[in-house]
Amino acid sequence: MRILFSGLAALGLVMAVTAAQAEPIKIKFSHVVADSTPKGQAALEFKKLVEQRLPGKVVVEVYPNSQLYGDSKEMEALLLGDVQIIAPSLSKFSKFTKKLQVFDLPFLFDDIHAIDRFQKSKTGQALLTSMESKGYTGLGYWHNGMKQLSANKALRVPEDAKGLKFRIQPSDVLEAQFKALGANPQKMAFAEVYQALQTGTVDGQENTWSNIYSQKFYEAQKYITETNHGVIDYMVVTNTKFWKGLPADIRTVLAKSMDEATAYGNKLAYDINEGDKKKIMASGKSEIITLTKQQQAAWRKAMAPVYKQFEPDVGQDLINAALASNKAS
Ligand code: LMR
Repeated sequence: MRILFSGLAALGLVMAVTAAQAEPIKIKFSHVVADSTPKGQAALEFKKLVEQRLPGKVVVEVYPNSQLYGDSKEMEALLLGDVQIIAPSLSKFSKFTKKLQVFDLPFLFDDIHAIDRFQKSKTGQALLTSMESKGYTGLGYWHNGMKQLSANKALRVPEDAKGLKFRIQPSDVLEAQFKALGANPQKMAFAEVYQALQTGTVDGQENTWSNIYSQKFYEAQKYITETNHGVIDYMVVTNTKFWKGLPADIRTVLAKSMDEATAYGNKLAYDINEGDKKKIMASGKSEIITLTKQQQAAWRKAMAPVYKQFEPDVGQDLINAALASNKAS
């Protein structure tokens, strides 16, 4: 009896020690842009909040700049459980849902405020859970900003883009957009873009000011046309099984921290992009072309055929809901 008792006591002690030494939950957060960008800043804010609130219980490791995984690899790694959170651009989900293609339709949103309203609407929020059956759970939308067109040729009217090769994200809508201009789009991972521009594998690309600046694309491109023709925003996604398997109290803190990091990054996004635009201007390495109203209208018209092509996939209802967000309610 005595032996049994002391045996049980020893076992209890071992269990207590093991519990006290329990490894913290590790969250690897992989992304492809620089720390200085809106996404980079929001990811670091998430890490800070989580580690303040769950010391010793959760550790968040942020891997920027495709350091751990590039575009398509990070999507696979999330499903395999090799990373726990990623935040790909909304243009990179078309393998999993056609609905998010709505964000790629050219000239759909007037500005980042309209995009914010759409993402916060019931329709926008419902899209966060639209890929759960595929293993991805959306935790929020993060802003980057509006896209600009860069090239080694001055692009003032749509005809200027004819015959040029443009790097695009892996999106059929973006492919159609450049084909509508008579250009040659090439799908390519973000990490490969700088070199492709430098070596002339492609003549141009489309991106936000913060990406053009932080990846030094402006050093390899003579012109950047301020078209604001589309958006690069993100869906922060986690592995559905991992998320649902977390202890409820931990998950609650993570979700709250994610909401706060989202608000933090989204508030910074516009200013980061405007600041980076000014830095590019000041560098004198790339000429920034501002379009007249007439020129802007010509780009809009040239890209418009894309809508007809993707309406069956995206759905007119979703397009209408997105268009409605251009009017502040
Ligand atoms: C791109 O591939 O150009 C962007 O989606 C990169 C990013 O994450 O902003």
